[in-house]
Amino acid sequence: MTMLAMISLDTPEPAPGETGNVSPSVAENLCPVVANHPVNDEYRLLVVDAPEVALTARAGQFFHLACPPDGEAGNFLRRPMSIHRIDRDKRQLHFLYKVQGSGTRGLANLGAGDVLDALGPLGKGFVLPNVTQHVLMIGRGVGLATLAPLAREGVAVGAHVTAILSARTASLLMAEGTLRDDGASVIIVTDEAENSDPVALEGLLMRIHADRPIDFVATCGSKRLARLLQGFAQEHGIAGQVALEQRMGCALGMCFACVMPFRCPGPDGEQATSYKRVCWDGPVFDLAEAVI
Ligand SMILES: Cc1cc2nc3c(=O)[nH]c(=O)nc-3n(C[C@H](O)[C@H](O)[C@H](O)COP(=O)(O)OP(=O)(O)OC[C@H]3O[C@@H](n4cnc5c(N)ncnc54)[C@H](O)[C@@H]3O)c2cc1C
Ligand code: FES
Repeated sequence: MTMLAMISLDTPEPAPGETGNVSPSVAENLCPVVANHPVNDEYRLLVVDAPEVALTARAGQFFHLACPPDGEAGNFLRRPMSIHRIDRDKRQLHFLYKVQGSGTRGLANLGAGDVLDALGPLGKGFVLPNVTQHVLMIGRGVGLATLAPLAREGVAVGAHVTAILSARTASLLMAEGTLRDDGASVIIVTDEAENSDPVALEGLLMRIHADRPIDFVATCGSKRLARLLQGFAQEHGIAGQVALEQRMGCALGMCFACVMPFRCPGPDGEQATSYKRVCWDGPVFDLAEAVI
């Protein structure tokens, strides 16, 4: 098999009739912090007032956040963060984040009245197919933060949304209330309940699909779950997308720090490899093309 390597520099637009996902503009938004508090042992919720351009964000897009210094150390590079909720009525954005290193520790230092510098909205978000009746999403960890706005968009276009939330323990689950409030049917699986492994999940997916045929799947936050959903979607001919994470530099498509390999058809119909920038061509990609 011939393996070809290509770098994609184009920026595909959504097909006519699809939910648009390209923001009309990107700005450095100075957002007053409303709240920044823990939601469990690992994650915090940051709520900021946002200007109009920031509120044009769509599910799956992200902002590149300037993180305040953590102690003496400054954070030169911004950190990418998905939008967890776009509250257009209150004109607020929500970010759900895990404190990992110096950037997110700096974010955790922000208090009400401080100002968050958020560059965005950036990247390509989820695009629901024209007629979608049943969206199945499955996420773990940070992925739960990223998928929540898609549930809202799915319900808004009249689709039934089933959200499978996976976590090590029930105490680490997030976004359950938000998803239920937005109209999703929520199913919880955890490692401690021993129902989150691929075999158990595959059985669950089959039962859900038999009950109400799924016509779109989405995932984020776990390679293991993404591989499972990729196989399931391929077997049943279901369209799907995955939101990927990658370390980023500019987040504007210029530095190529975030390039990852993807499957693509070669000139002779063989499978080839293309290289794409997660910040510019994604972070949401066709599930079938992702090399997970
Ligand atoms: C498009 C996108 C959306 C994201 N959305 C969220 C979100 O909604 N909530 C959230 O908590 N996190 C999210 N992340 C991950 C977040 O950007 C990283 O956790 C953050 O940059 C870590 O910075 P740090 O300085 O705190 O940690 P560092 O000291 O830089 O790293 C600490 C740990 O985090 C890992 N890490 C660092 N950067 C990334 C990255 N870009 N992706 C994955 N792992 C990383 C490192 O490998 C290391 O293990 C997202 C990442 C991307 C690319
Ligand atoms: S982070 Fe610079 S091109 Fe993606």
